[in-house]
Amino acid sequence: MLDRPRLEAALRTQGLASPDEEIVLEPLAGGVSCDVFRVALDSGDYCVKCALPKLRVEADWFASPRRAHVEAQWIDTAARIGVPAPALVFEDREANCFVMRFVADAPVWKAELMAGRVDPGFAEALGRVLGRMHAETAGDLAIASRFANADLFEDLRIAPFILYCADRHPAHADRLRAIADLTRQSAGALIHGDFSPKNILVTDEGPVILDAECATWGDPAFDAAFCLTHLLLKARARPDSATDLVAAARRFASGHAAVAGDDPAREARTVDLVSALLLARVDGKSPAEYLNEPARADVRAAALAMLDAPPASLDAQLAAWTITEETA
Ligand SMILES: Nc1ncnc2c1ncn2[C@@H]1O[C@H](COP(=O)(O)OP(=O)(O)O)[C@@H](O)[C@H]1O
Ligand SMILES: [Mg+2]
Repeated sequence: MLDRPRLEAALRTQGLASPDEEIVLEPLAGGVSCDVFRVALDSGDYCVKCALPKLRVEADWFASPRRAHVEAQWIDTAARIGVPAPALVFEDREANCFVMRFVADAPVWKAELMAGRVDPGFAEALGRVLGRMHAETAGDLAIASRFANADLFEDLRIAPFILYCADRHPAHADRLRAIADLTRQSAGALIHGDFSPKNILVTDEGPVILDAECATWGDPAFDAAFCLTHLLLKARARPDSATDLVAAARRFASGHAAVAGDDPAREARTVDLVSALLLARVDGKSPAEYLNEPARADVRAAALAMLDAPPASLDAQLAAWTITEETA
């Protein structure tokens, strides 16, 4: 939670605000798990982020506010490995708060997609950025110990998305729990953990990645599947753009594989995670807010069918989504 006097004092001590400069905090959209503010100062435009102890979603959902520190560490690491993210300005670790540069005039990708502006070239560039993060950190033991956040990942991703669905779908519970197990066992690189279009800014120079509070040493398949799931769900919500959204998903996947390298085992895990996460976005703790009831039923049926009979490849899974859409 934001401690305003403490933040103001820190901004002045750090020399970002002059002693008598007025500090105005403008709340930013988002804010399920954090207070996020824009602070325009004479020295520059900043963004302040403070972790909340309890997430603002319908189902009760707690997670350690230490994730502000995780995100600050991720931003620092991203800068070292050439992954585009806002520059870190300073961190107040005790207050679970950090300050980064504000990226101006950059819409979030989700808004672009929902407005029907789907750029497959951007999707491919984003896949490449994600591939870079995975390739640059694969097998790096220093990164593994810096991001030993499997506990946070369990609380914020495995439990609310996959295990919660397993409890609600007894016939598929074993299958979903096996997917969760394999995801836990396949940690091999730094993953972002919330690689969703709402956490990607669109700039003239390409994607800028935000909101890495779930970053962990984990399974790269999870990040790829998480983003692909969003694109597929948006294809259900926006039939006019469905073909473009599925094309974007395929370009994203090929961009990721081009940089992260082809890996049949990772691909098979990605396919299963896409199925599991599609189900999680209708029946998990964090459902996609933009699907109506028929679309939810359709996604649920498709996800369960793909858990029963996994598509032979990721490309087959993505391509089939368009066919289902056209014939629905
Ligand atoms: N550095 C930044 N520059 C520009 N906009 C930002 C920045 N950080 C966050 N935002 C905006 O604030 C929103 C919420 O931030 P985010 O880090 O995603 O927090 P949350 O964890 O609450 O989702 C983002 O979707 C984006 O619109
Ligand atoms: Mg966010």
